[in-house]
Amino acid sequence: MPQTLFVATTPGLEPALAEELSELGFSGRQAPGGVELNTPDGAYRAVNLYSRIASRVLLRVAAVAHPSELSKLSLAPYGQAFRLELAGGVGRFKDALQRLAGGGPSLHARLDDGRCVLSVDTSGELLHFRGYRQEIGRAPLRETLAAGILRLAGWRPGEALWDVMCGSGTILIEAAEQAAGLAPGRARRFAFEAFPSHDEAAWKVLPREKQPVLTSVFGSDLNAGALGTARRNAKRAGVLPRLTLERLDAMKLPQRAGPGLLVANLPYGKRVGEKSELAALYRGLGAAVRRLGPAWRYAFLLEEGAPHLGLPFQRTFAVNNGGLRCVVAAGHLEA
Ligand SMILES: C[S@@+](CC[C@H](N)C(=O)[O-])C[C@H]1O[C@@H](n2cnc3c(N)ncnc32)[C@H](O)[C@@H]1O
Repeated sequence: MPQTLFVATTPGLEPALAEELSELGFSGRQAPGGVELNTPDGAYRAVNLYSRIASRVLLRVAAVAHPSELSKLSLAPYGQAFRLELAGGVGRFKDALQRLAGGGPSLHARLDDGRCVLSVDTSGELLHFRGYRQEIGRAPLRETLAAGILRLAGWRPGEALWDVMCGSGTILIEAAEQAAGLAPGRARRFAFEAFPSHDEAAWKVLPREKQPVLTSVFGSDLNAGALGTARRNAKRAGVLPRLTLERLDAMKLPQRAGPGLLVANLPYGKRVGEKSELAALYRGLGAAVRRLGPAWRYAFLLEEGAPHLGLPFQRTFAVNNGGLRCVVAAGHLEA
């Protein structure tokens, strides 16, 4: 039987998610915060396993017009009791919903056109938890946003990548996993594996690896401690041999043969002193990127201060980074 999924993501990444899902064979409708899909039965398994940009996958299980209908629902394929997540507006359904409450998978209830729409969370822990990263840097990036930045910048395995402020290595590891053909969910568990209706045979048969693509992935940072964290995280993810890590000042980048994509999740600061220091850092980075020449196109995640880089940006995308309004600014120098 066809099923309706809501594949949630970070605000701003909806178009990137829609593109990724369509490459996975699922075309849907973008909505604020995600993409709605009509899929064959059980497709949530593949979406959870393969999407790098989704934050969770909700499976719609019912839509009822009256609270009395809730007691007649059979949610047994998903569990006996549920952790309720109630959106505003479901007030008149609240008492009837409480009878479903317990310790199983999350059940989301929201009001749509007077009807109470119920969806079971098939993911469990949010999907940016890939299962490898146990150490984070000072300003870590969610793996799902790292994957979104790469897609918004139009990067694909095969193109060289250089993160010049790599921190704990999130963007590098995402890129190296894609190049290695490793499914992002290969090392973690999902809520659907505990559903009474779980089809283990259909789950196990999904390939966790595909053909690798030869890709150069470079990471550099001024902070030796951050590089150590990146190295250990990459090792846990099984992609360390695919990375070249080095201690470099992003304001003094050495020449490196392109073509490729240079990326950075730039530090940002709130205090006045920090702001003037950052302006100098951004100017220095922009000048270093100019010296590399047009072979290296670039994409930066930053909160503000893009003009200090002094580089042309052909495309910018608004994204939410842990509650902060940020942009991904992408561009290239004319040859
Ligand atoms: C926002 S963090 C990057 C976080 C990273 N995306 C992650 O997932 O952990 C910014 C990084 O820029 C580095 N950095 C600051 N100034 C630098 C410079 N002049 N050259 C190279 N790296 C620098 C910091 O050490 C820090 O790791």
